Amino acid sequence: MIPSHVSIIMDGNGRWAKQRGKERFYGHIEGVESVRACVEAAVETGVKYLSIFAFSEENWGRPQDEVVSLMELMVKAMAAEMDSLDKNGVRFMVIGNREHLSDSLKSTIDSCMKRTASNTTLTLVVFLSYSGKWDILQAAKKLASDYAGDPEGLAAVSEADFSKYLSTASIPDPDLIIRTSGECRLSNYLLWQGAYSELLFVDTLWPDFKKEEFRKALESYSKRDRRYGKVK
Ligand code: FPP
Repeated sequence: MIPSHVSIIMDGNGRWAKQRGKERFYGHIEGVESVRACVEAAVETGVKYLSIFAFSEENWGRPQDEVVSLMELMVKAMAAEMDSLDKNGVRFMVIGNREHLSDSLKSTIDSCMKRTASNTTLTLVVFLSYSGKWDILQAAKKLASDYAGDPEGLAAVSEADFSKYLSTASIPDPDLIIRTSGECRLSNYLLWQGAYSELLFVDTLWPDFKKEEFRKALESYSKRDRRYGKVK
């Protein structure tokens, strides 16, 4: 049983670097290598959607120099990886609140998304400046404006209708959400979309999470019994 959509909360970069007596940023650099390894493993195993929580709305509150270098790292990594992603049939998407992103990051994202838009082997979604509550709130605001003066229409709105207002409308809900580094929480990630996701918390720090760990996670998922609140 291969999950269609695997989502990863990448955690532990700072601790990984500290264990080696290095600056936190060193962990983020190795973290990009883990993203590459997981993309390769996802393609090899037939996973159709791989998403990663790269930066939360709350992460803007980190020290300014870390935020700036993380954003620069993302621009660099996207530019450096795009040829290989495109060649391997990977469609690249970024989802999140674009308000605080720099112009150079936005234009890099737009050109990468445009270039890979018709690829079908794997969709790689980077959640950037994203939070679950932000997503639900922006969806509720759009819905409220669409249904202003239409109480009957509003009363008939279903969960499926509401989902279309979320920033994730074009991708399926995650089957499996993995969080690395031993922390056992969702940290305001896919709150609506993860309602019935299988959760897997592993002790491995993100820079150490490579192909073998990805395959092990799929193996663990294959043993889960998904009942969606029903009885088998
Ligand atoms: C969590 O570790 C990691 C992050 C907040 C950033 C992860 C971002 C990347 C690896 C870049 C991804 C690249 C692309 C192209 C999208 P932490 O800093 O919270 O670690 P700690 O909990 O040990 O402090």
